[in-house]
Amino acid sequence: MLEEIKKTAAWIQAQTAGFRPEVGIVLGTGLGDFAEQIEAAYSLDYKSIPGFPVSTVEGHKGRLIFGTLEGRKVVAMQGRFHYYEGYTMQQVTFPVRVLQQLGIGYLFVSNASGGINTSFRVGDLMVITDHINLMPNPLIGPNLAELGPRFPDMHNCYDKELIARATAIAEQESIKLQYGVYVGGTGPTFETQAEYRYFKAIGGDAAGMSTVPEVIVARHMSIPVFGVSVITNCGLSDEIGDHEDVQLQGKKAGVKMQLLFRRMIKEL
Ligand code: HPA
Repeated sequence: MLEEIKKTAAWIQAQTAGFRPEVGIVLGTGLGDFAEQIEAAYSLDYKSIPGFPVSTVEGHKGRLIFGTLEGRKVVAMQGRFHYYEGYTMQQVTFPVRVLQQLGIGYLFVSNASGGINTSFRVGDLMVITDHINLMPNPLIGPNLAELGPRFPDMHNCYDKELIARATAIAEQESIKLQYGVYVGGTGPTFETQAEYRYFKAIGGDAAGMSTVPEVIVARHMSIPVFGVSVITNCGLSDEIGDHEDVQLQGKKAGVKMQLLFRRMIKEL
């Protein structure tokens, strides 16, 4: 496994003239536009990268974009691998392992999720303060001791200093932020009403099908993480959202998220 990770990282380094990103950014569903903000130096299709999971989904678009943002070297994953697609947890998290080998010192993650906290509205941005993992743990199996410990600590999983900085920036930019616990389930079904109530009862504020595996692996390697969820629906609401409105709200929230990520990366 470690050998494959190193091999893939070496191949990427050869394609990108040894580009060394400081920040890795995972762009979630509907948030891929952010890549346009990056002054791209190199772009690699996932399907061209040896060792990367092979997409089974027709028309699946995924690429790594290397470039600068606010003068910082970044790499963005435009598209991620989900457990519900049939990948193993090792495949889902492989790209984050590779990004660490390439040199990232921070991981920024984003996703679309369903609000469980009844004070949340469609289009809200939720800073992820913690998570509850309801998927298989990606660290099950032999430990890669060179990368991290057998029993990684999960305190401060979402970096408190980065969260504080987000709060300060949001105030300056008049961006309304929510804060909460992300519950990561396998999907691909959305939750039943009973499951949304269950997620709420166990302490969740938003439900999604991604992010948690990547964050666990990043924390295994001691990389500070900042995460944001765009609330695209409200699970406990009786109203079925107007689809067009949900998309519009999602787009508006995406714009706010881009501004927040951009300023945070500038001030790292
Ligand atoms: N549940 C799980 N994943 C999601 C949801 C949801 O309600 N909305 C967007 N992704």
